[in-house]
Amino acid sequence: MNSLLSFPQLVLNWYHKNGRKDLPWKIENSPYHTWISEIMLQQTQIKTVIPYYKKFVKTFPNIHVLANSSINDILKIWSGLGYYTRAHNLYSAAKIVIKNYNGKFPNNFFDIIRLPGIGRTTAGAILSFGFNFYACILDGNIKRVLLRYFSIHANTSIKIEKKLWSKVELITPIYNTNKFNQAMIDIGSLICSKHKPKCNICPINKKCTSYIKNDWSTYPIIKRKIVTTKRNIFFLIIQHQHFIFLNKHKFNNIWKGLYCFPIFHSQKDVLRWIKRKKITIKNQEIFPSFLHKLLHLQLLCIPIRIEVKTPFLVDTKSQCNIWLNILKPSCIGFPSPIQKIFKTHFFFNT
Ligand code: ADE
Repeated sequence: MNSLLSFPQLVLNWYHKNGRKDLPWKIENSPYHTWISEIMLQQTQIKTVIPYYKKFVKTFPNIHVLANSSINDILKIWSGLGYYTRAHNLYSAAKIVIKNYNGKFPNNFFDIIRLPGIGRTTAGAILSFGFNFYACILDGNIKRVLLRYFSIHANTSIKIEKKLWSKVELITPIYNTNKFNQAMIDIGSLICSKHKPKCNICPINKKCTSYIKNDWSTYPIIKRKIVTTKRNIFFLIIQHQHFIFLNKHKFNNIWKGLYCFPIFHSQKDVLRWIKRKKITIKNQEIFPSFLHKLLHLQLLCIPIRIEVKTPFLVDTKSQCNIWLNILKPSCIGFPSPIQKIFKTHFFFNT
């Protein structure tokens, strides 16, 4: 037990000298700003998040503006960041906070964790960073530090999670919790990295069991096997003068609410669709294909451009199908492969 007593102090001392205090979400440090940053940081690296975060809080400076905006406005800013369910959840949660909590972000664990898109670690981060309360967090960086420090072995990932939560509850101090939590994230990402940990400069190396045994490379031992499926995806880019036809994804898929070219899984399907729509093609070309990687999916994107003589009619009321004017700035969101095609072949910055 004694060995644990010095743990927070070592970590906090390290934080004062080396911790990251200049991250953009550390400037405001409000529950709102912490919430937005923590959601963006789920599954996404800091350097990717920073420009999106800055743009997001500039556009939606508080929860009232966010809740009163439209999902299209939010997806526009989120375009390219991926995992779009996060954006839908932010919007739903903002509306709940306005309706049920009078626009004030709830300040207790059970109300926070009930909001869409918020798990135990995100709730802990909001409480400790945003409210300066005592709360534990266990993100991927902290997990790696603790697995190595305590040489944690277990045969299922559920058992490991349980053990890690009990360890983190043991070591998290009730004073300076926000600094301690940030320091643990920073130690995990800056020192206790996956492949080349800098153990010699680690503030907690003296009692780190895997440093003592020199077996850090065998951790983390939670290896979730990710099965990736490969799929061809044909984008049919239908152009009439400076207008491009787009569909809004309505269903609960990865690109829900975003605008996209019509999608097909084979060239045959593309031809069949063109025939059914009785489209007369003026010109056509196939752009170079490219790979778009998602966590469980690798999409080989094959863009086919056709120029049509006459545009077909769309239902302007529902906004599900549109002819986008590529000479004007857009106010809708696109998945990143679509952004890439627009940028590369149409010099159109979405
Ligand atoms: N990942 C999750 N939360 C973070 C934070 N506050 N700082 C850096 N990386 C993080």
